[in-house]
Amino acid sequence: RNDSEHCSVVLEATPVDGRPIGVFDSGVSGLTVVRELWRRLASERVLYFGDTARVPYGGRPAFEIETFARQIMSYLRERGVKLIIVACNTTSALALDKVEREFDLPLVGVLRPGARAATKATHTGKIGVIATEGTVRSGAYERAIRALMPHADVVSQGCPLLVPIVEAGRADSPEAMNALREYLAPVMERGVDTLVLGCTHYPFLADGIRRIVGPGVAVVDPAGETVETVSALLNDLGLASSSRTGPDEFMVSGDPAGFARVAEKLLGSRIPPVARVALAELQRS
Ligand code: DGL
Repeated sequence: RNDSEHCSVVLEATPVDGRPIGVFDSGVSGLTVVRELWRRLASERVLYFGDTARVPYGGRPAFEIETFARQIMSYLRERGVKLIIVACNTTSALALDKVEREFDLPLVGVLRPGARAATKATHTGKIGVIATEGTVRSGAYERAIRALMPHADVVSQGCPLLVPIVEAGRADSPEAMNALREYLAPVMERGVDTLVLGCTHYPFLADGIRRIVGPGVAVVDPAGETVETVSALLNDLGLASSSRTGPDEFMVSGDPAGFARVAEKLLGSRIPPVARVALAELQRS
């Protein structure tokens, strides 16, 4: 066989799209998705944006979340990402349906994968969801779960204190356990067999949550199913990278040093230097 045939065979077998995957959240918690990317798609490069100047998102109205999502996604697109993971349930619930039509990039939220993972995990169809007040009010988890499992009984609980606790680096404090006990009591009373961590901050509280709900309840972190979805999409669209083309980058709209300190504590490992992107720059995007 001649050289050009040989070459085309090699290219098809080893697709390389070295552009990074954009991941964003209101703060540190998109890192629960990044750590799944590191585990399962280690050859992909990540461009992370944490909107720490405007966290928390959970109590904000939908129009504001849509504006923030548009700004951040435009910025990530300008930075040359090939796909964006909306690693925030509140944004996935309140803004994704609307803004995804405006972007010519593949977008993956965490809410639909979270709903899918819950329906796979439950035996009884009684599913608890803990999330921000915005996500709970939107009813998006109920809709997404019932679209897959019409008879599901979904119990949702808003937990407004948890995001500020995680952002302050106090995930392992007695204050966190007290808040969790209070929020989880009404959900457990309803006899759920599955609990969705419907806010990307909550997997950082998973040890305490498991201690409270006990071994009989499956605790679902949507990050795993999200990364499965991303992996399938990258392969289907021919966008996967077979080898890492550079380091990950972390950016925040607030204080980079504070972000790095909390991120390293939560992840238990070092992260590359964190850069600051001023809100004014973001608002120009
Ligand atoms: N971690 C995000 C979520 O999944 C946002 C939390 C917030 O900023 O209130 O909903």
